[in-house]
Amino acid sequence: MIQVDPDVGGERYSVADETRQSTIVADIRMAWMWKRKLLIATSLIVAVSLFVVVANYSEKPYFRLQPMFRQGFSSHWMFSKQPYKGFKPHLGYVSIPKQEPLKLHCELCSIVSSSGQMLGQAAGVQIDRSPCIWRMNNAPTSGFEHDVGHRTTLRVVSHTSVPLLLQKPHYFFGQGNNTVYVVWGPLRNMRKDGKGIVYNMLRQAAVNYPQARIYVTTEDRMNYCDMIFKKETGKDRIQSGSYLSTGWFTLILAMDMCKEIHIYGMINDTYCKTEGIRKVPYHYYEPGSRDECSEYMLHESAPYGGHRFITEKAVFAKWAKTHEIKFFNPSWQFL
Ligand SMILES: *[C@@H]1O[C@H](CO)[C@@H](O)[C@H](O)[C@H]1NC(C)=O
Ligand SMILES: *[C@@H]1O[C@H](CO)[C@@H](O)[C@H](O)[C@H]1NC(C)=O
Repeated sequence: MIQVDPDVGGERYSVADETRQSTIVADIRMAWMWKRKLLIATSLIVAVSLFVVVANYSEKPYFRLQPMFRQGFSSHWMFSKQPYKGFKPHLGYVSIPKQEPLKLHCELCSIVSSSGQMLGQAAGVQIDRSPCIWRMNNAPTSGFEHDVGHRTTLRVVSHTSVPLLLQKPHYFFGQGNNTVYVVWGPLRNMRKDGKGIVYNMLRQAAVNYPQARIYVTTEDRMNYCDMIFKKETGKDRIQSGSYLSTGWFTLILAMDMCKEIHIYGMINDTYCKTEGIRKVPYHYYEPGSRDECSEYMLHESAPYGGHRFITEKAVFAKWAKTHEIKFFNPSWQFL
């Protein structure tokens, strides 16, 4: 679209007539030369700035910028130091059925984990003070308000949890809920050509609840999230037989959208190896289910089809050093 031509402002700006006039005195000529140089420099600056702006707007800034800046920046700068995008549209998430990009920004997002860690902490009041409250999958608020708060601004939902939401469509999509739903899933379930089983369900929900704000993660953005996993862990997500968790997609979205992030009820990567920890259910709304650490251990070592929750937490700890991310109940310490 925008070409950065190294010869920009070269011969194109020369005024042939001028050189032919032998009467021109030397200092006029010098002044003209300076003007020309200034013009070249200005056009180069404008062209390069435009290119950077366009590249930043594009979906894969890392790939686009890498060849150009390979020498000047460490491979980490693009993701770790990238400022949140504020009010810019988030092109990796498009609405159903209109295919419009998600536009959302928040000064402070509180992300409420689905973990049993939420139980008995009475964090509801503190969570409700946040301008934006994010939840995951089908984690309910009703009956748990004292611990998890009342409001829900945004819900990040796994393709596998969509049927669970549709068991209580009125609760999740009913009028009076202004919640934004961001659904992630692999292309086979999310394709828009009529063969994506989860996409079809969502399209039907959008017909039944026309005011519902439902967005899906684009294929490009899914690949981007995989790429980040590979970059941070050195492991190929597919080859290592794992799936990214909803928490992973949630944090990547939050870092784009929220200036500050407070995470409730998320354990750190060494928690399950620590003596004397609380045994809590995996989900706060599923009492009596397998406890959180047993579930995490199972997943971490599953040769196929597991989530690498513990690996992901180690990456989150790293991100918390360059982003405004704080962890509560339990809190994480950083040295
Ligand atoms: C959504 O709105 C309905 C009323 O239309 C209400 O009954 C339900 O509790 C709300 N759900 C949430 C999660 O706020
Ligand atoms: C991780 O959690 C354990 C158990 O709560 C705690 O002892 C440890 O200090 C935490 N580590 C960090 C880096 O927060």
